[in-house]
Amino acid sequence: MHHFTYHQNELYCEDVPIKKIAKEVGTPFYIYSYATLKRHFFAFDKAFEGIKRLVCYSAKANSNHAILTLLKSLGSGLDIVSGGELYRGLKAGISPDRIVYSGVGKRIDEIDYALESGILMFNIESLEELDLIDKRAGLLKKKAAVAIRVNPDVDPQTHPYISTGLKKNKFGIDAKTAIEGYKAARALENIKIIGIDCHIGSQITQVQPFKDALKSLKSLVTELKKIGIEIKYLDMGGGLGITYDDESPPHPDEYAKVIVELLKETDLQLILEPGRVIVGNAGILVTRALFRKTSSVKEFIIVDAGMNDLLRPTLYDAFHAIWPVVKSGDEFVKADVVGPICESSDFLAVDRNVSDFKNGDLLAVMSAGAYGFAMSSNYCSRLKVAEVMVRDDRFHVVTKRQDYEDLIRGESTPPFINI
Ligand code: LLP
Repeated sequence: MHHFTYHQNELYCEDVPIKKIAKEVGTPFYIYSYATLKRHFFAFDKAFEGIKRLVCYSAKANSNHAILTLLKSLGSGLDIVSGGELYRGLKAGISPDRIVYSGVGKRIDEIDYALESGILMFNIESLEELDLIDKRAGLLKKKAAVAIRVNPDVDPQTHPYISTGLKKNKFGIDAKTAIEGYKAARALENIKIIGIDCHIGSQITQVQPFKDALKSLKSLVTELKKIGIEIKYLDMGGGLGITYDDESPPHPDEYAKVIVELLKETDLQLILEPGRVIVGNAGILVTRALFRKTSSVKEFIIVDAGMNDLLRPTLYDAFHAIWPVVKSGDEFVKADVVGPICESSDFLAVDRNVSDFKNGDLLAVMSAGAYGFAMSSNYCSRLKVAEVMVRDDRFHVVTKRQDYEDLIRGESTPPFINI
């Protein structure tokens, strides 16, 4: 459920007509609904009511400062994958002891930053990383709290680019090696073992893969106990899918039920890293039709947002519904909705029945709150778009649109170029 609804043929975000925002802010822009974000966070968190858990929102889905600040105020921790995300989390006031750090390629400066900040735990993805973290912790006179990210080899049945828990994926450590990793970790002076972790993929629309992964983690915890290694935190990662088109992913309650059922007779404290399920349907991208063009085989609607603003259709063939901001009739057309970038893969929709958009019409690209702005770029020197948050009848530009000067900020001309 979200708060993007029509009132007399006009699309609103909460109580604000989207047309009004477009007029003031220009296009393209992302809008996030405060009420939806709050609702999604609570629906997820409350689903685990009664068991000890820490929801660490996954910053990569959308790391906008206002969103992180809002989620922090609702009680969220943070799942990070870079020094930049740690910086953003701390800036948003998230307490470091509610931050977990995953990722296969942590750099020394990032490890040191996390150690100095006192994060809750590192999710270790290789034995070499474990050694490096031990060394850095020794140098900084810190103890590094760690979990090993286990690759449980389950098929999440999602797009191959966003599956992470299969043997062939670069993520985590297989179960057997993980046991060796724990034994090695126990012997390291500056490491404190506190957890076990997995993340099997994203946009998962069934509960079974989560069940399989959790069972495999649980049996590892039992094995570890037998050799005297106690685990306090079990981190299930993120991955719960959302509805973009006709998917029917489990409701957080259903997802939670499966997890709670398997954890209830243990003392394990649960950590969760949801991203998409919190922000995905809380945000949309608004773009304007620039031109229409008909070829012998296709109808094109050319809009002012491109793959640099929303990469998902290009990269994953992802479906995003396209709604008119103002409904002006019942005419539909089968068309490709394409952007201004010089690539044939620059599309938001292909062969889609959409409203018969004319030049100047506003289009709402739905379900774009997760991995939308976060994956946007300056490709073709296009300016990063504005982001707006709406609450009730108010809206606020939470990220201002870039200007041309932003494009060359930090660039310089070497003295060996003669002008
Ligand atoms: N935890 C870890 C360690 C992750 O790698 C991810 C996502 C999450 C949590 C959050 O997963 P979520 O709940 O959002 O599924 N760009 C792709 C998705 C990539 C996901 C990467 N990892 C997309 O647009 O579909």
